[in-house]
Amino acid sequence: MITSKPPGPPVRFPIQPLKRFQGASASIKRPREIAHFSYDDNHEYREDDSGIQYYYDPQIGADLKDGFDTFKHFEQKEDPHLDSLLRTLVSKEKRDGQAVQVDFVTWRGMMTKIMTAPFDMFAEFEMLATRYQGTIYIEEDFQAIFASRAAEADPQSRNSRPSHLPSHAMMTYWGYKFETLALLPDTPPNTSRTFIENRTKAVVSNHAQHCSIVRTGFGPHSIILGGEVDGLWGPKPDPQKHPDAPIPWVELKTTEELGRYPSERDILKYERKLLKFWAQSFLLGVSKVIVGFRSKQGILRVIDVYETNQIPGMVRRGTRCWDGNTCINFATAFLDHLKKTLTEEGVYKISLKKKSGVIEVGRVRAEGTGGVLSKEFLDWRESR
Ligand code: A3P
Ligand code: MG
Ligand code: MG
Repeated sequence: MITSKPPGPPVRFPIQPLKRFQGASASIKRPREIAHFSYDDNHEYREDDSGIQYYYDPQIGADLKDGFDTFKHFEQKEDPHLDSLLRTLVSKEKRDGQAVQVDFVTWRGMMTKIMTAPFDMFAEFEMLATRYQGTIYIEEDFQAIFASRAAEADPQSRNSRPSHLPSHAMMTYWGYKFETLALLPDTPPNTSRTFIENRTKAVVSNHAQHCSIVRTGFGPHSIILGGEVDGLWGPKPDPQKHPDAPIPWVELKTTEELGRYPSERDILKYERKLLKFWAQSFLLGVSKVIVGFRSKQGILRVIDVYETNQIPGMVRRGTRCWDGNTCINFATAFLDHLKKTLTEEGVYKISLKKKSGVIEVGRVRAEGTGGVLSKEFLDWRESR
């Protein structure tokens, strides 16, 4: 029987001073895809590449508001934990006949939040983590998400939004509308001209997705990340013939146009957004970020294509509001901190409160793995 200390006070990891994370970045391994899965039009899990789409230049001048009333909106109502990621890993382990050995397993979104925290005063997150068979698994704390959603829906606490501004729902919609306009299920000529022309009328849905699972490294820490990839720029290299070839994934983003004479404040706001675009894409090895600039009212004006690895340099030559190497070194140091703190069985909470400047890691359950690890995964590992 494991005897463990009762949960104690959280261990604090201060973000400042950033000086200790500056300089050349910790060695980074290029992410390599080890597995993938899709969600279909009903958001059902499929262990295949059916959700892959291909980038195709959308029509400038398109109205991203079009079709809002028919939006097929998937909203996470149940806690997804790490289930789809673990399910795919179980399949891989059965195929390979060996367990994946790695220091950390998590969704890409968790690492994006950690990596960008040093340069975002307003960053906040709540995650849960557990150590099992030498690996630390980190998930989003969905109970916290559901609670904050309920608080936002409460009319008493809702901030009134001026009526001339688009609603939050509309602003969410046009990101997906842009994806629908700019992605095709196959490359021409396999996709017919009529299909392409009809894209402006297609029902927008965020149910289907394709997720890439990669193995990467931050300094000495090996990590498996799973995350959604929006599309491909060209054909995916055959993993049998070219196992090391980078995959030409693209990340699509929409943002408000900067105008002819942007103010310093507008440029700063935009470069801060680039931090999120870069970190999210960098983590999965997504090589291009395609930004659709829209007017305030949602008309698509301009498309810009960035090479992901050039984004940090652009900001270094611009407002210098963030530094990519500092982000990488910070994340490396924080992973090290997690390894030293998550030494016992149970579930730990990792949280950052807005403007607090401190990430807290506290043990919230003395035994088991909570909901972090699925029954399917535990049964499989215990049966080996
Ligand atoms: P934009 O990023 O263009 O706004 P992703 O860019 O990560 O692939 O996500 C696709 C779209 O999902 C986003 O497009 C946005 O519309 C919506 N979305 C993603 N995260 C969101 C969030 N936290 N809140 C609201 N909408 C979000
Ligand atoms: Mg996406
Ligand atoms: Mg996107």
